[in-house]
Amino acid sequence: MKHLVVVGTQWGDEGKGKIVDYLAKPNKVSAVVRYQGGNNAGHTVVVGGVKYPFHLLPSGILHRQKTCVIGNGVIIDPEILSGEFKTLPKSHARLLISDKCHLIMPWHKVIDGIAGGKLGTTGRGIGPTYTDYINRRGIRLMDALDKKVFLQRVKDELAWNKKLIGIMARQSAGKAVKLNITAAKIVTDYQYYINYLVRQPRVTVGDVSRFLNQVDAKNQAILFEGAQATLLDIAHGIYPFVTSSNPSVGGLFTGSGFRPRSLRVVGVAKAYTTKVGAGPFPTELFDAISKKLRDVGHEYGTTTGRPRRCGWLDTRVINYSKMINGLDELALTKLDVLTGINPIKIAVKPEFNVNLKAIAKAKLKFIKLSGWEEDLSTIRRFKDLPTAAKNYVKMVESLTGLPVTMIGVGPSRDQLLIKK
Ligand code: GDP
Ligand code: IMO
Ligand code: MG
Repeated sequence: MKHLVVVGTQWGDEGKGKIVDYLAKPNKVSAVVRYQGGNNAGHTVVVGGVKYPFHLLPSGILHRQKTCVIGNGVIIDPEILSGEFKTLPKSHARLLISDKCHLIMPWHKVIDGIAGGKLGTTGRGIGPTYTDYINRRGIRLMDALDKKVFLQRVKDELAWNKKLIGIMARQSAGKAVKLNITAAKIVTDYQYYINYLVRQPRVTVGDVSRFLNQVDAKNQAILFEGAQATLLDIAHGIYPFVTSSNPSVGGLFTGSGFRPRSLRVVGVAKAYTTKVGAGPFPTELFDAISKKLRDVGHEYGTTTGRPRRCGWLDTRVINYSKMINGLDELALTKLDVLTGINPIKIAVKPEFNVNLKAIAKAKLKFIKLSGWEEDLSTIRRFKDLPTAAKNYVKMVESLTGLPVTMIGVGPSRDQLLIKK
């Protein structure tokens, strides 16, 4: 039985949510698993005209017969997760949450607010939560299930982080930032949201590794959903302009406690490139084409609403992601957004690496392709695409050496062409 993983090949927001929702559908997939990141992610699924922006819930959650899983590598803000859960239609999937997940605490958000500005983080406390996890002073969901343990841990960490925040605020010369909340209030609030989740009939907190191994033993397939993307990976992205987890395929192992013996690796690439936050973006545009991509593609952050930086497709970046993730195939999304842009450019050389100096020095070589004028949004078969759009897809295949197996022509679940 082949398990699957969906990873972002660029800087995030490639349309992973939509591809996961599609791949989750067949009967043989019985579980959909997030393995890293937190509510910095925003994965959109559009069904029947309703838009679901998922931040912590796996994008398979709308399929009733499945079990969605939040693996131990994910960090959780219980208020966000329970709020998201409330927006679900009744016929949602079961949800299993790892008791090993670390919690995003109020001080993490405050620290991110002080320190994350330079990088343009999402401000959700992601970096500071993973810092405490690695520093062995994080608080896990299993700790929060025991009131006495939780209160003691919160008291200790609150005292420490108040001091830390005081020092950070003085050093950053910003206005005074204080954490005006008591340990008792934090415990009450967090237990309120956690208890809400635990009381739901289709929600369980438990051992994700054991569950996934049981699913595997029954010969059922598991779909893993990467959040963020390869160029944001703490190990393989353009450090320090990265997130604090491993969105690339390696994160799956540590973030779920499961070793797939056979794995189909699907890379999701937007037909152009976008990025949110600071850091190098070699093919970025600042002209009317950038504005057109942003307007037509609605390129505003799903999580923060920030306008996304827009530019040409960079197949050097896709090839780098191919190497890091061992990609088997590509899903090429938002091809419809390129309608009316002529010519279309793709960056092809020099070979990409994540060294900041090399990126600054690189003299990019582009190829130009003819554009098309036709609206693609109602097309459902590859052979019905305009010739220029087909050529664009074939050029991506030739430049990456990867088959493009899915093509997005709009945000809805059905606006997807399957190319054999
Ligand atoms: P993710 O973070 O990778 O899941 O992507 P996001 O959901 O943050 O951003 C992708 C955006 O593009 C969402 O608003 C999707 O609804 C939308 N989208 C996905 N695929 C397509 C497509 O093929 N065409 C168009 N026009 N929009 C798409
Ligand atoms: P999805 O899963 C796009 C970016 C932030 C910032 C950097 C670090 O929807 O593709 P963080 O808050 O993680 O410490 O911010 O990473 N970033 C994303 N950009 N899509 C995302 O998620 C992102 N998650 C984080 O903008 O530059
Ligand atoms: Mg997103």
